[in-house]
Amino acid sequence: MVIQRNNILLLIIIFVLSISTCRSNFIDDDLFKQVYNNILEQEFAHDFQAYLSYLSTNIESKNNIHDFNNIAKIDKNGIRVIDVCSFGAKGDGKSYDNKAFEKAWKETCSSKTPVQFVVPQNKNYLLKQITFSGPCKSSISVQIFGSLEACDKISDYTDRRHWILFDSVQNLVVGGGGTINGNGNVWWPYSCKINKSLPCKDAPTALTFNNCNNLKVKNLKSKDAQQIHIEFESCTNVVASNLMITASKKSPNTDGVHVTNSQNIQISDTTIGTGDDCISIVSGSQKVHATNITCGPGHGISIGSLGSKNSEAHVSHVTVNGAKFIGSENGVRIKTWQGGSGEASNIKFQNVEMQDVENPIIIDQNYCDQVEPCKQQYSAVQVKNVVYENIKGTSATKVAIKFDCSKNFPCEGIIMKNIKLVGENGKPSEAMCKNVHFNNIEDVSPKCPSVESSKDEALLYNY
Ligand SMILES: *[C@@H]1O[C@H](CO)[C@@H](O)[C@H](O)[C@H]1NC(C)=O
Ligand SMILES: *[C@@H]1O[C@H](CO)[C@@H](O)[C@H](O)[C@H]1NC(C)=O
Repeated sequence: MVIQRNNILLLIIIFVLSISTCRSNFIDDDLFKQVYNNILEQEFAHDFQAYLSYLSTNIESKNNIHDFNNIAKIDKNGIRVIDVCSFGAKGDGKSYDNKAFEKAWKETCSSKTPVQFVVPQNKNYLLKQITFSGPCKSSISVQIFGSLEACDKISDYTDRRHWILFDSVQNLVVGGGGTINGNGNVWWPYSCKINKSLPCKDAPTALTFNNCNNLKVKNLKSKDAQQIHIEFESCTNVVASNLMITASKKSPNTDGVHVTNSQNIQISDTTIGTGDDCISIVSGSQKVHATNITCGPGHGISIGSLGSKNSEAHVSHVTVNGAKFIGSENGVRIKTWQGGSGEASNIKFQNVEMQDVENPIIIDQNYCDQVEPCKQQYSAVQVKNVVYENIKGTSATKVAIKFDCSKNFPCEGIIMKNIKLVGENGKPSEAMCKNVHFNNIEDVSPKCPSVESSKDEALLYNY
């Protein structure tokens, strides 16, 4: 914090000096760079582990995370600004702006000093599939003030997995308050989920970050993605905040934020309402922390699905602290396919409000998201050490708590504390508990059938 204060002090001094000398280019390049880099370091050198440690309720204040967008603004002088319009982007919503964006990116990525890539406001930039590749020479802030519009000709997508892709760009910030519109309504009718007579094919993720470390994505709207809205793939140290993600409740596979094979991910202050999971966290992900999330419509916050096609999956140290679910299909969910292996462990769901949620609390180890029924298999992804704490509200169905765990690999070390879920209009709800071992149950309603005592050392339900 001392360094941070020093930085602010330094900036004030620079500011005052720059006014008193009336020279807009007063700021010494090296000095500025030093300040900027210090702030970058603080931004990312945050010890994510501190607030992700299992069972810790002490979440570090978000205010500690410095906002260096402000710095970028101060410095119309110090940091280079690269505006897509000066590279020929029209933003008329009719002509493709790919070429201009690509040229601007080339310039941005090769800059040896920190640079701001700007997409000006009040315009719609029509884009076909586009990749922003690294590694780049300096840290980059991409400020999207306007709207990015996806090409709506399916045949123009040579890569069916991505629309906008940031690949191997380190120390990146993406923000600006603008909109990313995937125009997914042209894709959705071709999903096998919508039209059962069609084969199942991928549709692009609207915004993908692949192999990006020290990444901040904040203050953006993402709507109507072709499939997933925002994906973090093989990334570390990510802060995602103030995102607004929306798509029709009926849109297929339009997950809000998808985290795969990534570590140290913080998602906060985000509102998501789509046709699939608000947040999905899949194999290879660790230390994922979500806070102040509003979800619905959608399929809830999901760990998984894991273990499809007999795969091995590992997800651990996930915390959801502070979430509100409104009319979603699920609340907090862990879903695994039969026949998988590996584990989902050290997971904590706390301070959650449910409003008319179909399955507020669910572990589903018989997940089967395919046309053919899934056959019984021996192995399963082990679910272990899961804490549910302070979860209240209403269930839209009779069964508010559903533990459908594997017979051969029961759910282990489940802790439930201070849970109160009722049916609509305060009607009683029920719990369904199959193959689950509890470490502790305290103040939980509804209870598993035939549970009287809550103080037993190990509570085991096998049905
Ligand atoms: C579903 O796809 C089939 C095969 O392409 C097509 O003939 C049919 O019109 C589609 N149904 C709807 C409701 O779009
Ligand atoms: C929670 O997130 C919402 C945006 O989804 C934001 O408006 C609100 O201020 C946040 N609350 C806190 C306490 O940060």
